[in-house]
Parts: sequence; C-alpha cells; structure tokens
Amino acid sequence: MKKTKITGLGRFLPPRIVINDELSTMMNTNHDWIVERTGIEERRWFTPGKETVNSMAVEASKMAIKDAGIATQDIDFIIFATITPDYFVPGNGVLLQRELGLQGIGALDVRNACSGFLYALSIADQFIKTGMYRTILIVGAEIQYSALDKSDTGRSSAVIFADGAGAAIVQATEKEEGILSTHLHADGDYAEELYVKDPGSSRETRISPDLIKEGGFNLYMNGNAVFKHAVVRFHEVILEALQANGKHPEDIDLLIPHQANLRISQFIQAKLQLPDQKVYNNIMKYGNTTAATIPIAMSEAKELGILKPGDLVCLAAFGSGFAWGSALLRF
Ligand code: COA
Repeated sequence: MKKTKITGLGRFLPPRIVINDELSTMMNTNHDWIVERTGIEERRWFTPGKETVNSMAVEASKMAIKDAGIATQDIDFIIFATITPDYFVPGNGVLLQRELGLQGIGALDVRNACSGFLYALSIADQFIKTGMYRTILIVGAEIQYSALDKSDTGRSSAVIFADGAGAAIVQATEKEEGILSTHLHADGDYAEELYVKDPGSSRETRISPDLIKEGGFNLYMNGNAVFKHAVVRFHEVILEALQANGKHPEDIDLLIPHQANLRISQFIQAKLQLPDQKVYNNIMKYGNTTAATIPIAMSEAKELGILKPGDLVCLAAFGSGFAWGSALLRF
C-alpha cells in the first residue's frame, strides 16, 4: 500500500509584531504575567485591508509548493483547516483553489480548530493510501485578531491567540517512509469551554444589535478547563501513536506540539522525559495561531535544520471541541 509523505512546507506570518507591552495599553495585563502563564513574548496580528486568511494561505502554499519542488498543477486536492474563514459560506478551500489557478479540483474545509491541521493530515493520508489522490495541499490559516475581546473581560484569550498560515504538500510514496499513523479524538461535552457562539443559524436572525452587545462574536475560553484537559489528552494521544507503532518516548527525534501554551508543551515534555532539543516550540514569537501552529512550526524547524530527513516526528494537538489528535511519521 502507498504511504503519505510530507514533501514540502511553507508559512506566512503577517509582518505586524505585537509585543506584550502593547497589549498592556489595551487591557489590564503585563509582560511578566503573560510570559509566566503562556510563554508568549510577542505575536503577529494581521492588518485589516492588507492581509486576509486566504492571502496568507496563498503565500504559505507557494512556499510549500516551492519547497516540495513540484508544479502547482501537480496538486490534485486541497484541504483547508480554519475556524476563521474569510466568508461564512463558501469555505476557504475554494478561495485558495481559485487563487492558485486550480479550478476544477476538489477543495475541502475542516473546522476542527487547534486540531484542524492534524484532522486534515489524517484525511489526506486516507485519500493517498487508497490511491484517490497523489498530491494534496493542506493549509492551516487563521485570523484570530478580529475574534478577540481586547478589553479586561477577554484578556485571558486575547493574550494567547494570533494570526498566521502554514502549509504542507503531501504526496504518495512507495517507500517505507512518511506517515506511520494518525489518531483523532473529540468530546463534545466540552463544546462550550472554548467557542465562538455567534453568528449561529438556529435563531431568528444571525446578527442583531443585541447579539453584538452580548459579545458572542468573540472567542470565549475557559482557560482552566482547557489547561486541565489539554495536559491529559496531549500525553494520552502521543502515547497512543507510539504504542500503535511499537515505539517509546525515547524513540522520538522531534515532538512538534500544537502551540497552545508553552506551559502545556513543557508539561508534556516533562511527562515524556524528552530533552529540550527534541521538542520544537515557537509560541514565544507567534502566539497560538490555532490550525496554523503545526505547519508553521514544521516549516520553521525544517529551515533551521532541526527537522531533518529520516527523523521520527510526533505531531500532537488539542483544542476547541474538545478535539485532539496525533500523528507519527518518518520525515
Ligand atoms: N493578564 C493579567 N491577569 C490576568 C489575565 C491577563 N491577561 N488573564 C487573567 N488574569 C487574572 C485573572 O483575572 C485572575 O485574577 P484573580 O485571581 O484576581 O481573579 C488571575 O489572573 C488568575 O486567573 P486564572 O484564569 O486562574 O489564571 P490561570 O493561571 O489559569 O491562567 C490561562 C490563565 C488562560 C493562561 C490558563 O488558564 C491557560 O493557559 N489555559 C490554557 C489556555 C490554552 O492553552 N488555550 C489554547 C487552547 S488550544
């Protein structure tokens, strides 16, 4: 049976850097609190009128296509993971497809938030293993800025979430390499612990002055609940991936966790007893870009020579849903 290999990676971060001190001018917070609780020192926010979710996705995709050494026309399917699409309908997959000049091929949108990239990777893996497609473009891209309540009420999430895009080209290979397994989970009991309520469809109107006043268009997060579940599920799903392949934590060459919060990543690292050089984190510079964190981190780690051919790589994510997942691959 064919296997799926990640052959190209790309990323785009909006140029506007927002340091913690700038946040202190908007809400009652401070640099030390943010660094101590989240590890974040600065993040990127988009500039309205300049970047869009799609424009960032296009840039990340072009970089991934170049990195893979393929022609754009070789792509035969697109999977776009985002919870912050440019339109309510249609999804971002078709916008990216149009921009890349790939009219006619299928384009799928995935809405699994922070686990979106891993859900997308798993879907791509199934399509490739069955022989349905040979070259798939996967993108995770988000603009969280416009869903953040930048007052004291929303400060626990406003300091964490940020904007950016990452992309991967995955291709069929006949060799014993690439994705070894993917593992997906969710528990809808916690749907409202990290969510954006509006605009919902199950009411008289989707938008009204009252709804706007209620603030349901902003991202709501129960930080404590997210933290408690994240540390358990991350650990569990990484062990699941290792066990499925007869591997142990010490076999991992590089763990790239979804960049939720540096404290969560450090907690997982300690539980798995991994040395610093085996865990890649960049949340300090970019904040939590939801579906984009893993492909951004992979692209950066590859460029820095930290992610190398032949490495046993573990990817893991946890987020809204709650949804979580992992992938183990021979890069
Ligand atoms: N700046 C300063 N103080 C803040 C603050 C901010 N940005 N946000 C909250 N606080 C305050 C709270 O109001 C509270 O004050 P009080 O004690 O006077 O009531 C105090 O800090 C502690 O709040 P608490 O919510 O208990 O803090 P915490 O230690 O749980 O940290 C998070 C908050 C959000 C950093 C933490 O819960 C967390 O990391 N959760 C996981 C978030 C995450 O990973 N999200 C991504 C999921 S994909």
